[in-house]
Amino acid sequence: MPLYENLATRLRGQIRRGVLRPGERMPSLRGLGRQERVSVATAVEAYLQLEREGLVEARERSGYYVRAPTAPVPATRAIRLQSRVPQTLRNPALLGVLDVLLREDLLPLHVATPALELLPSAAIASATIRAMRRAPQSALDYGTPQGSRELRVQIAKRYLRAGVDIDPDEVVITAGAMEAISLALRSVTRSGDVVLLETPTYYGLLQAVAALGLRVIEVPNHAGSGIDVACLRTLLARHAVRAAVLVPNFNNPVGSCSNDADKRAIVAACAAHGVVLIEDDLYGELAYSGERPAPLRRFDAGGSVITCGSFSKTLAPGLRIGWALGAQRTPDIVRAKCFSTIATAMLPQLAIADYLARHDFDRALRRLRRELATNAQRWRAAILHHFPDGTRVSDPAGGMTLWLELADGIEGQALFEAALARGIGSLPGHLFSTRGDCRNHLRLGCGLRWSADIDAGLRELGRLATKLRGS
Ligand SMILES: Cc1ncc(COP(=O)(O)O)c(C=O)c1O
Repeated sequence: MPLYENLATRLRGQIRRGVLRPGERMPSLRGLGRQERVSVATAVEAYLQLEREGLVEARERSGYYVRAPTAPVPATRAIRLQSRVPQTLRNPALLGVLDVLLREDLLPLHVATPALELLPSAAIASATIRAMRRAPQSALDYGTPQGSRELRVQIAKRYLRAGVDIDPDEVVITAGAMEAISLALRSVTRSGDVVLLETPTYYGLLQAVAALGLRVIEVPNHAGSGIDVACLRTLLARHAVRAAVLVPNFNNPVGSCSNDADKRAIVAACAAHGVVLIEDDLYGELAYSGERPAPLRRFDAGGSVITCGSFSKTLAPGLRIGWALGAQRTPDIVRAKCFSTIATAMLPQLAIADYLARHDFDRALRRLRRELATNAQRWRAAILHHFPDGTRVSDPAGGMTLWLELADGIEGQALFEAALARGIGSLPGHLFSTRGDCRNHLRLGCGLRWSADIDAGLRELGRLATKLRGS
């Protein structure tokens, strides 16, 4: 047997026996070479072999990590295009289930929030103090509806790193990405207009379109490959769609990411039909490895893509600082902002601008992305271990959500209720669909740090799922 195969066999055994656990970093190539008395080239060959088998994955500038066992990802139900007509939202779950989000006594397996320990809170605290000292009057005054120019410049600089050259004058600062999306929708639609959303998609987007009395048509979003471009083209040709709200990068709940060719095609199809494209790029900075995926905006030559984002998943959800890159719609969005909340709080804007100017945000992001990648593998491994056979789980390459298709048609709502009775938070799949589809799905968040409590919570969820299957 070649040396590398010998080594791969030993490492494979250690992974199978749980000596090396999902999410754990494998020894460095040099370390492994020294430890096993083989050359670095042999260590590389062994890792490549394990990578081909799906047992480990390479993460740029970080090394090799153990992957959770492979498992099928949830399938997307085919949509019969003929039978679909745009309609206003009729999903009662949107009201009932969301009460869960207000409870603070649950084991929070349902939240899509990074562990607060992973965020650079000390640096943000000192940036806040500095902002207050530097400009106490501006920090406490009403700001302009468009927001701090200092922060808008910093946001423009971040997009430049993503290959998108924007003018700080088209950035509108908002209370999180959610306000940015709502303002963009208010600026381009009127009650009764048709908007295109993915299915499944983030329930906040469903609520936003429901609040504005919009009608919805859905395009499938496949785990793995992302937005179904062929279906999108057909829908745009059939219906008078006013706007599309899409989450092309690591969307919530499925975690899929569209490739650049699809993104280009989506932007072109929307432009051809005069559809305003509102892009929710909340998770774009959270790829587990490699380059940040491009925002749709990168492929927009005509100024019809409004990109929305925030620092909620990367710096601090509670500061509530987001933005819209308004393109041609900037004046309308600024006006909508002015008439809704006048302006966004100034102190957090100045604090974030100060943080971005003085600290290495990319370094903090690298650390966060590494941790999230490890978390996702740990959570997936635990789910596959504790849940009944036949459970499918997404395998995202970024973001912080996992999408489960439960075995044997177990109802997500039933599992959600059983878990709630035991003090465990989860979200039933039908919350992510306009029409209450995805009934045997569950969404979990995997941003919190791995702990014995989380393991116990997932074990209990798996036990309840097994019990429901038998009932
Ligand atoms: C896809 C998506 N968009 C928007 C939001 C809300 O973002 P923000 O907190 O910046 O308003 C979330 C929150 O989880 C989300 O998952």
